[in-house]
Amino acid sequence: MKAILVDNSGDKPVMVPGEYPDPVPNEQELLVKIEATALNRADLLQKSGKYPPPEGASPVLGLEMAGIVEKTGPGVKNYKAGDLIFGLLPGGGYAEFCTIHQGLAMPIPDILSFEEAAALPEVFLTAYQALTYLGNVNFGETILIHAGGSGVGTAAIQLAKRLFGCRVITTAGKKHKLNKCLELGAELAINYKKKSFDELIENRYGKNAVDLVIDFIGAPYWEKNIRCLGMDGRLVYLSMLGGIKVKEMNLIPILRKRLTLKGSTLRNRTLDYKIQLTRDFQSQVSDYINNESIIPVIDSIFDWEDAEEAHQRMEKNQNTGKIVLNGM
Ligand SMILES: NC(=O)c1ccc[n+]([C@@H]2O[C@H](COP(=O)([O-])OP(=O)(O)OC[C@H]3O[C@@H](n4cnc5c(N)ncnc54)[C@H](OP(=O)(O)O)[C@@H]3O)[C@@H](O)[C@H]2O)c1
Repeated sequence: MKAILVDNSGDKPVMVPGEYPDPVPNEQELLVKIEATALNRADLLQKSGKYPPPEGASPVLGLEMAGIVEKTGPGVKNYKAGDLIFGLLPGGGYAEFCTIHQGLAMPIPDILSFEEAAALPEVFLTAYQALTYLGNVNFGETILIHAGGSGVGTAAIQLAKRLFGCRVITTAGKKHKLNKCLELGAELAINYKKKSFDELIENRYGKNAVDLVIDFIGAPYWEKNIRCLGMDGRLVYLSMLGGIKVKEMNLIPILRKRLTLKGSTLRNRTLDYKIQLTRDFQSQVSDYINNESIIPVIDSIFDWEDAEEAHQRMEKNQNTGKIVLNGM
């Protein structure tokens, strides 16, 4: 089959069309003709050799897809050839075909195109996991979501607001991203390049006003995040884009405010965990997708042969929401 592969022959790795062996479905898997896939920040890391795929996963990039079931393994009960499905992959999305475990596949709602469906799994399941399994969100809480214009950020804002009636505060670095965050339901969107978010939050909502922080930035935000959090606050790390080492860390607020700190990746979770997460997400979020109160935010759609151009857009932090690839 055709696939988009990493070419390491030049100064830096680039995405180029190539050939890769056809995947073969096992007993519990579907073979899917991919119609669309989407970029994730992890793709940039994997491309540069810093984020190897988990054992057994395809080394081809691509953590999600939407497509048409081509055939099914003998143990598959709920899907048949011709069904339209989307879902999370451990790898292999930048290709004509992939296999997916039946428990990770979701039927594409009538309301979504292949491109819209492909933009959902990774960022929405990550955001859902962060809010619920990790962040123990409660109805009506105040949540601070950093990188609000990112794929995960745009998903988290909507889930926090629609599912849990939260007050959402967010940060981003560009005006159009801040506007998108407000449009999606954030009450306050702060340009972190111009203002100190902790001061702004304290001025508007008082001291210790935040119950849960979803952070992707890490070290530079440590102190400010801790300052914003209130009693029994939770801080969930999904990434550390700004740095990993905190100097002169004061641990006392963890005791005084009874804080909980958690971090997780999704990709290296067990299959059973991801199946349960997919089920919970489907049962809690499907209605909101069907009535369009939760939408995948699509920044741009590229022909898959232009994957390198798409990567450049993400690398320059130009995207608001998801960059999708189609035309396989
Ligand atoms: N743990 C997990 O399971 C998991 C799963 C999926 C994704 N993630 C992580 O979640 C993050 C978002 O993923 P995505 O695919 O949604 O990314 P994305 O769409 O590429 O958005 C990332 C955004 O983060 C902001 N940013 C980058 N560097 C920054 C810095 N140093 N300080 C402040 N803001 C910065 C930029 O927006 P501005 O223009 O606003 O600066 C950038 O556009 C990534 O770090 C990714 O690795 C984690």
